Amino acid sequence: MTGNQTFTIIKPCAVKRGHTGAILADIQQAGFKISAMKYLQMTVTQAEAFYGIHKERPFFADLVQFMTSGPVVVAILIRENAVEEYRKLIGATNPANAAAGTIRKKYALNVQENAVHGSDSDENAIVESGFFFSQCERF
Ligand code: RTP
Ligand code: MG
Repeated sequence: MTGNQTFTIIKPCAVKRGHTGAILADIQQAGFKISAMKYLQMTVTQAEAFYGIHKERPFFADLVQFMTSGPVVVAILIRENAVEEYRKLIGATNPANAAAGTIRKKYALNVQENAVHGSDSDENAIVESGFFFSQCERF
């Protein structure tokens, strides 16, 4: 596949409310190819490690509890300029500030239950993809 990678999580709020299919359709319509995908429930240890960069933030404990509250879909996405283009597609962290038509505008509930995660740099996209997928699980 051509392009570079980003990593996404369809968060427990969106899975629970039945938005998985619609979000995956938006992702594919925006030109992203799915390179790898899994349906799983994160453990507390995994969520603490995944969001380790936020461990000093006041919302860290709530974030870990939320991210482990139900199953999620994790996926590696490929496209030209994938990290930046995916951040545009998902919109601002707080859906109140997200542009019309973005995934967070359409499917997020609030700043925490904001439907999806997207990598914030090429380096983090590689680290996050490696956190969930081995080489033989990606195509
Ligand atoms: P993400 O990492 O999930 O793609 O989100 P992001 O870059 O847009 O935002 P980030 O600052 O990395 O925050 C990670 C996640 O923590 C939750 N959060 N809660 N209660 C709060 O004020 C607050 N702020 C952030 C959100 O779930 C956010 O996506
Ligand atoms: Mg982030």
